[in-house]
Amino acid sequence: MNVELTVNGKTQSVQCEDRTLLVDLLREQLGLTGTHLGCDTSQCGCCTVHLDGQAVKSCTVLAAQADGSSITTIEGLSQGDTLHPVQQAFSACHGLQCGYCTPGMIMASTDLLRRHPDPTDEQIREGLAGNLCRCTGYVNIVAAVKQAASLMRDAGGKSA
Ligand code: FES
Ligand code: FES
Repeated sequence: MNVELTVNGKTQSVQCEDRTLLVDLLREQLGLTGTHLGCDTSQCGCCTVHLDGQAVKSCTVLAAQADGSSITTIEGLSQGDTLHPVQQAFSACHGLQCGYCTPGMIMASTDLLRRHPDPTDEQIREGLAGNLCRCTGYVNIVAAVKQAASLMRDAGGKSA
């Protein structure tokens, strides 16, 4: 089958099988390997991307279901060489160690901040409950999301 997707602002037609998962299409057919595959069973959140502006676990979405949609992956988050505020804050706050969960954490966090521009620690922990990290203990991830919220508020929401 053929699916038409706008991925990181570029519209393209891609041939795939009916059973192809969105995560596999992104990684294997479009070469966007920043979207990670961790569990493949909807547990870890490593594969989180934005589908029409909302965070989804791309291992739970068929490519066919995304036909006609707009997808943003971690590769599409920065503006040229300027990292997105959430990327900047994860770096500044050491919100990562091995980095395997990080693309999914960042995509989930940007969606969280769209819904909660000034989140409490509890809202952050609840909002990221579907994203697992085996390294950090989450404390620095929560700090990073708070710092990102502050950066985005200071920028007047322009980077949201
Ligand atoms: S790979 Fe999709 S949730 Fe783990
Ligand atoms: S930084 Fe290693 S799993 Fe999160």
